[in-house]
Amino acid sequence: MSLGKIIDKKKNNLFMKLDREKVPEHVAIIMDGNGRWATKKGLPRKYGHKRGVSVLKEILKSSKKLGCKILTVYAFSTENWIRPRKEVDFLINLFSEVLSDEIEEIHEESIKIKFVGDLTPFPETLKKIISSSEYLTKNNNNFLLNVCVNYGGRQEIVKVAKKIALKTSSGEIKPNEVNEELFNSELLTRGIKDPELLIRTGGEKRISNFLLWQLAYSEIYISEVMWPDFNEFEFLKAIIDYQSRNRRFGGIESLPNESFDDSQYSS
Ligand code: FPP
Repeated sequence: MSLGKIIDKKKNNLFMKLDREKVPEHVAIIMDGNGRWATKKGLPRKYGHKRGVSVLKEILKSSKKLGCKILTVYAFSTENWIRPRKEVDFLINLFSEVLSDEIEEIHEESIKIKFVGDLTPFPETLKKIISSSEYLTKNNNNFLLNVCVNYGGRQEIVKVAKKIALKTSSGEIKPNEVNEELFNSELLTRGIKDPELLIRTGGEKRISNFLLWQLAYSEIYISEVMWPDFNEFEFLKAIIDYQSRNRRFGGIESLPNESFDDSQYSS
């Protein structure tokens, strides 16, 4: 059997394991490993980012096909500015190029695209492409793609805290009216349900300042595969692993009442 056929067979087996009723609605992804992937191949890091774009396209298609409704990807963090200027510029140009090339197809697929983060430091050209893409797709309701750029979870939380502090000091709200619901309503992701699943590729086991508030109860899946090698097969593995999790949200599995009764242990 050819390698291609073996891979197709493995993928079909995974598809059969998938529970269509339990597909996460919102998946967040830290697309990590582009640089390491390229360096390992003796290529400049930019080739990893370029290849990463094709992978994002594949995973976007796949998540839609599987029945997810929202995909949130970490494309550029508030900390990424400390990278060499050449790499930062390359990424900024890549975002503009990819958006210009892909926006028509994104719109045809009825995908709404949103950029999440502080866009202020980006060049005007990118800001214009972002706002026209968001405007073009604003009424699409098939699927939501959130692209986090110049995004940091701590910065987002501090901004919300400042807004709420201003509202309390002006008397608009009372301090005891500050609650999770109010906090949620001021987040950049307001109105969007929290991700059920966070996937991080590239093997690192940390959140790296991504959606700190929103990931409070998300299931985390770490893939050892570098983002440029990630694909539908690996994505399916992550979803199936998620489906095997027992999500308790701080509670316990329903157990018979007597399981809390310790009288048999008392002297
Ligand atoms: C992390 O890998 C990846 C990034 C900082 C950039 C990700 C961007 C893309 C895949 C392009 C997306 C394009 C659009 C339009 C949304 P890394 O460089 O940190 O890899 P390393 O950990 O191996 O160094």
